[in-house]
Amino acid sequence: MKTYIVGNWKMNFTVGESSLYFHKLLQRVKSYRDIEVVVAPSLVALQPLSLQVDRHKIKLAAQNAYFQDFGAYTGEVSVSQIRSLVDYCIIGHSERRHILGETNKDVRKKVAAAVRNGITPIICIGETAEERKNGETTDVIRDQLLSSLSEIAAEDLSKVIIAYEPVWAISTTKSAKMATPDDIKEVLDLIHKLLTKTYGEKTVADTPVLYGGSVKVSNAEAYLSIPGCDGLLIGGASLIAPEFSDIIEIAKQVRA
Ligand code: 13P
Repeated sequence: MKTYIVGNWKMNFTVGESSLYFHKLLQRVKSYRDIEVVVAPSLVALQPLSLQVDRHKIKLAAQNAYFQDFGAYTGEVSVSQIRSLVDYCIIGHSERRHILGETNKDVRKKVAAAVRNGITPIICIGETAEERKNGETTDVIRDQLLSSLSEIAAEDLSKVIIAYEPVWAISTTKSAKMATPDDIKEVLDLIHKLLTKTYGEKTVADTPVLYGGSVKVSNAEAYLSIPGCDGLLIGGASLIAPEFSDIIEIAKQVRA
């Protein structure tokens, strides 16, 4: 299986800045057959970046898309509308769930729409600090994971990516708040166990499971060395070209 290094730019950069930054990244990033590099710029930058992209080096992702294909949904942009621009779409990011009110049902429909349109969904799941404190991590992960996949046929499971992003470990600089490799391994094991129990070992062998939450150059090697971790979903550090390209080099070394 490939190793995925995904940069989520969130709501950063103007269109012009995105284009300049992407140019810088394309110059820095080397292409490796076993590493899939993906960046998710803001929706408005997708079209210009799709003209700049060298898909041997970097693939594009959307950060969200609506599940209906077309119609009276003012302000929304559908998976069908972006499918000529991107290969991937992040779905169910915790910021969408917790700030913008996205539900498990929305996530399920968006995942189905992505697969239907030939786009690989990067499905984000993860517990909040409160849920973790209350011992609800297993239930939250089970609910988010299985409901997001409930419209997906077993034979399509290799067309989705799961990203474990504990909400409490996102965008933190305090090492006490960062997830340790042991914390992450426990949940990655749970995800693999739930997928295997529901779909069978053979079916899920090709479903990548990534980790995201305060990934940087200093911890990328430790995170990528966790058994069952097939890559990283990176926020802040993906906005700094040398950090992001160094993480790709670390992935190359860890997988060598
Ligand atoms: P940070 O890497 O900034 O913690 O963001 C993680 C994230 O939410 C990526 O989707």
